[in-house]
Amino acid sequence: MSVHRFCFVCLGNICRSPLAEGVFRHLVEERVLGDRFHIESRGTGGWHVGEPPDPRSIEVARRHGIELVSRGKQYSTRDNERFDLFLAMDRSNRDTLIEMGAPEEKVRLYLSFDPALRAGADRAMEVPDPYYGGPDGFDRVYAMILAAGRGLLERYA
Ligand code: 4NP
Repeated sequence: MSVHRFCFVCLGNICRSPLAEGVFRHLVEERVLGDRFHIESRGTGGWHVGEPPDPRSIEVARRHGIELVSRGKQYSTRDNERFDLFLAMDRSNRDTLIEMGAPEEKVRLYLSFDPALRAGADRAMEVPDPYYGGPDGFDRVYAMILAAGRGLLERYA
């Protein structure tokens, strides 16, 4: 049985990608598929290495029954061997990841796994950075992350 090794990637690894990691792990565990997936997250930047996720990400996850347990980590080329797929939250994260040495064939925009967005090509396939906005930004981000997570799980389950 093959294990899918997924790495969610944003800029700081404290808002979007730890939330995506926690939500996807939750979806996987609901389906009792924990032994089929290895799930982590990274930031392209290193400012928050070792830190817990942003309190606003922790709060929105907790409201949906999900505990976020990751600590901030920065992407490095050593991760190329550890993961099959890097799921970038926005185009800037994707481009930076590739500039930093991630193999292009392993990098996808995470929202490309949302089937609704796949149909509507005019919509931007990006999870907006909620760091400098208010708490409602985190609700929007949660909904986007959940929809893409369901699509990702359907694709690989
Ligand atoms: P994230 O949000 O990329 O979703 O984790 C950010 C968190 C921190 C910073 C930028 C974005 N920062 O500049 O520190």
